[in-house]
Amino acid sequence: MKKGMIIAIDGPAGVGKSTVCKLLAKHLGYAYLDTGAMYRAMAWSAIAENLNLDDESEIARRLELLPLRFTIENGALSIFYKEKRLDDELRQPEISVRASHISQLKCVRDYLTRCQRQLGERGGIVAEGRDMTTVVFPDAPVRVYLTADLKARTERRFLEYRNKGIAADRAGLEAQIKARDEADEQRALAPLRATPGVRVVDTSHMNISEVVTQLMVLIPLETAEKDASIRG
Ligand code: DC
Repeated sequence: MKKGMIIAIDGPAGVGKSTVCKLLAKHLGYAYLDTGAMYRAMAWSAIAENLNLDDESEIARRLELLPLRFTIENGALSIFYKEKRLDDELRQPEISVRASHISQLKCVRDYLTRCQRQLGERGGIVAEGRDMTTVVFPDAPVRVYLTADLKARTERRFLEYRNKGIAADRAGLEAQIKARDEADEQRALAPLRATPGVRVVDTSHMNISEVVTQLMVLIPLETAEKDASIRG
């Protein structure tokens, strides 16, 4: 991966951040940092280690000792629990709920913020999550808030689950996304929101490539041209 700037992107569940950010990163030759996966991994490994997710002091005590490792490999975040690479297991609906829960704990947010900044030190990353533009990388030269209405997001998540063979129904998913929106937007720490100075892009009626094109427009021309030419 080459050097470059940090592109910070936030937005609610199901807005299509992962797909868009992966493509954007590939286009620029940057690494893709999925910080939601880090919260999911934290929830997954806390369960694997039999931690009580309701006991913040226990989690705070054992957090840094969890056998969890975050690294950037081949242009994307890799997460290991011991020797096991965590991937599809993090996408289970139960982990979504647990991750939302654990993401409200200060000790977890502080720890993952440190890990994310460390991963971003080298530059050249597209970092997506809920607090990339507000807390983790507030000085990033490109900060974007992606949004879409609830119906569009439910449909996107439904198709994603169906493609992965995960059973889901639309009404249940909509309720789950709505509940997560509320939890993400109303939590005391690092709530999800578009702060002044952040570019808001409503993707409700856009397809993936339209969103990527729109984001490329926001990236300083000099960098985009330089990066594209380095890529050859
Ligand atoms: O983007 P996601 O659905 O994979 O995120 C999983 C959970 O983690 C979600 O409930 C919000 C939380 N999260 C967060 O609080 N801060 C981030 N930077 C990324 C995700």
